[in-house]
Amino acid sequence: MYHQWFTSDIEQTDKEIYDVLINELNRGRNGLEMIASENYVSKAVMQAMGSVLTNKYSEGYPGKRYYGGNEFIDVAEQLAIDRAKKLFGADFVNVQSHSGSTANMEAYFALLELGDSILSMSLDQGGHLTHGHKVNFSGKFYKFHFYGVDRKTKMIDMEEVRRIAKEVKPKLILAGFSAYPRELDFKYFKEIADEVDAYLMADIAHIAGLVAAKEHPDPIPHCDIVTTTTHKTLRGPRGAMIMGKEEYETAVNRAVFPGMQGGPLDHIIAAKAVSFKEALQPDFREYAKSIKKNAKALAESLVEHGADVITGGTDNHLLLLDITKYGIGGKQAEKVLDKVGIFTNKNMIPFDTRSPFDPSGIRIGTPALTTRGLGTSEMKEIGELIVRTLANPDDEAILETVKQSVNEMSEQFPLYPGFTLLR
Ligand SMILES: Cc1ncc(COP(=O)(O)O)c(C=O)c1O
Repeated sequence: MYHQWFTSDIEQTDKEIYDVLINELNRGRNGLEMIASENYVSKAVMQAMGSVLTNKYSEGYPGKRYYGGNEFIDVAEQLAIDRAKKLFGADFVNVQSHSGSTANMEAYFALLELGDSILSMSLDQGGHLTHGHKVNFSGKFYKFHFYGVDRKTKMIDMEEVRRIAKEVKPKLILAGFSAYPRELDFKYFKEIADEVDAYLMADIAHIAGLVAAKEHPDPIPHCDIVTTTTHKTLRGPRGAMIMGKEEYETAVNRAVFPGMQGGPLDHIIAAKAVSFKEALQPDFREYAKSIKKNAKALAESLVEHGADVITGGTDNHLLLLDITKYGIGGKQAEKVLDKVGIFTNKNMIPFDTRSPFDPSGIRIGTPALTTRGLGTSEMKEIGELIVRTLANPDDEAILETVKQSVNEMSEQFPLYPGFTLLR
């Protein structure tokens, strides 16, 4: 098998990295991955990534390259483009962006001049670093204004977005988030963008898989440009892409190459194509439905066991937990959950009074465990295990009982069972 020869070579030539591969696989196998931005790709996606395509240089686009010998690379990139267009219904797609951050940079570069103003969701209320944080390129190169969530409902108040948009008159409005458990109303965003004569861009990095499966309202008909990572709910390789209306195709393609990037990652683009084909299959729709069902079941269980779930639940693949009542910060919460084998990340909650390095919340997501086959009954159990852990962070005996349950559940749902890496 492919992975047998692949890993056995590494075992001979580079023992240190071989050990990293083994240890990381086993870490995943012995725990529950609940980081909302992570997932498990198929073996087919992994095989495309670990392939001869990594050797090629192919600056340019299919049919228009700066190097020879790209006849097969062109086929892979065109397949990725065609499949992504079919999946999302966009006029054009550029599949070369190396990452979500790069894709956002390229989208801004395509539509804006340096110093132009953008209205986006603030990072401390759910936005992403590339949506204008002052330490990020975005906050340094553009003038950002922010909307957030309502203090009471913790949901986006679209009338407030409209009010701010009218006040600051941004050149671009950005709809997107890294930590928001509810749906985005792209139609409403478009109405506002039209009223203030702004471009509308969506960053669907987190929800792309749900959008592709029609399990989240569709941004494509309303937005000028849509960026997304490919490795979260979409379950493709680490990377990103940019989609949009026909009139922006040339500007986006120029912004990607030669604007921001050199040679594309052809092995990754082939893996994107493989993952898009997977996402076009009917069972991907079932997968996306299950992600949401699992997130809902988890939120219900957490609430049932007394936890403070921000907004009281979730409409998508993630939820935010306010852990204030357990008397610990996000840093300790993440650490103690790690210790019992439940992997989450510390996260700011709206109107957080603590620092981003030790905030009042954790973010929990279901895409990876849903891929692994866990269902709503496991989510119910995990909700209780999370609360038991957070309520007893220093009680080794109790933590041991949780670890035991996590181990049993992990064994019941083997991760990459076909892989022969185990020693
Ligand atoms: C909304 C959003 N946009 C962009 C990114 C950046 O993606 P990457 O980590 O691939 O640069 C993320 C990643 O977490 C994200 O959540």
